[in-house]
Amino acid sequence: MALTLHGPAAGAPDIAEPILRALPAWFGNEAALHKYLAGLPEHPTFTAYRDAQPAGFLCLTDHGLGSFELHLVAVRPELHGHGIGSALLSAAESWLRRRGVRLLHVKTLGPSSPDRPYAKPRRFYTQQGFKPLSEFPQLWGPDTPCLVILKHLWPTRL
Ligand SMILES: CC(C)(COP(=O)(O)OP(=O)(O)OC[C@H]1O[C@@H](n2cnc3c(N)ncnc32)[C@H](O)[C@@H]1OP(=O)(O)O)[C@@H](O)C(=O)NCCC(=O)NCCS
Repeated sequence: MALTLHGPAAGAPDIAEPILRALPAWFGNEAALHKYLAGLPEHPTFTAYRDAQPAGFLCLTDHGLGSFELHLVAVRPELHGHGIGSALLSAAESWLRRRGVRLLHVKTLGPSSPDRPYAKPRRFYTQQGFKPLSEFPQLWGPDTPCLVILKHLWPTRL
């Protein structure tokens, strides 16, 4: 099974929609999905293909402050747990380090929400070295506490 990574490019319009639609537990809100898809071309995006089939993608946001945000990461559900999310993140981090970027953060649904599917990405980010910064109960609205987690991208030795 061959995994190939590409990017970054502006968005991933051809593969993003079917992948997000295959993940209704996370991206089932139609209005939010449309917003994600419409905004994708603004984001540097890495794509992963397994045996030449679209497997996942990861988008970044440049806040123009020397730090970036991991805007969105999604892997086809039948391929979860095969290292594709980690490979996408690793490619993105290498690209950021080469640019001298040292801080990467993610906003995700916080642990005070009862929404169980979001425990999975929180565990994924923790395993990848992200640390919780703070939970903002009102940023996204009262029922969607926003957890901000942060990773310092230490320079790798060559
Ligand atoms: C979060 C997400 C992107 C992670 O992608 P993934 O490809 O499943 O991630 P990985 O396979 O690299 O790592 C996931 C797990 O597999 C394990 N793993 C990594 N490489 C592996 C391999 N080669 N073989 C077996 N397991 C492996 C990891 O240790 C990790 O273990 P954990 O679940 O106990 O934390 C994916 O689950 C997803 O798309 N979720 C839905 C969308 C979502 O939640 N997006 C984020 C919203 S904030």
